[in-house]
Amino acid sequence: MTQDELKAMVGRAALKYVQPGSIVGVGTGSTVNKFIEALASMKDRIQGAVSSSSASTERLQALGIAVFDANDVGDLAVYVDGADEIDNRGYMIKGGGAALTREKIIAAQSHQFICIADESKLVGVLGRFPLPVEVIPMAAGRVIRQFAAMGGTAQLRCKDGQPLVTDNGQHLLDVTGLTLSEPLRFENEVNQWPGVVTVGVFGHQKASVCLLGTAQGVRTMTF
Ligand code: 5RP
Repeated sequence: MTQDELKAMVGRAALKYVQPGSIVGVGTGSTVNKFIEALASMKDRIQGAVSSSSASTERLQALGIAVFDANDVGDLAVYVDGADEIDNRGYMIKGGGAALTREKIIAAQSHQFICIADESKLVGVLGRFPLPVEVIPMAAGRVIRQFAAMGGTAQLRCKDGQPLVTDNGQHLLDVTGLTLSEPLRFENEVNQWPGVVTVGVFGHQKASVCLLGTAQGVRTMTF
């Protein structure tokens, strides 16, 4: 199976976690796009979605799925999203698609985080994928130096030669050279740094379930 087929398989598999009549939290990325396509098949049986990015909102609305503001709904039963890396405890690196802040907010608002990923995302220890960190632009230089003091190398993410601006109007750093064997401790520490909006380690908002696409089918990991 191709990576695209693995993504489509886990996107469809996530439908069984969507409760009829509910509002579902929807993440961002190529794997989630497969979920959104599958979700369209049950759009008349759900109230709608809360979306983590402008990109997902556009896709949802184009398929006739209502999108609610997170402030207009209460807790959600289920949030479905991909990951850049997931370990065997359910801790993740996210933010490759620049949507980490809204993703973390909706994950915190949801009772269950259903992670959908192809098997290339499963790692022993987090840290090979460059860690996304959303920052207030004026703090970027200082945060880069703080990561350097930790042994990491942080780079401003650019698009078309300019700093990428997130849906929240902020900038993104991508940090390499770190081994995140204690994700919760790391997340707690970086969260304290002035100017950090969101660190892309999902420790406190880790996965409840991971539907991992493998050549043998969907492997369900529960954490
Ligand atoms: C976006 C994310 C995505 O979940 C992550 O980048 C995985 O994306 P894909 O499914 O395209 O591999 O965190 O901010």
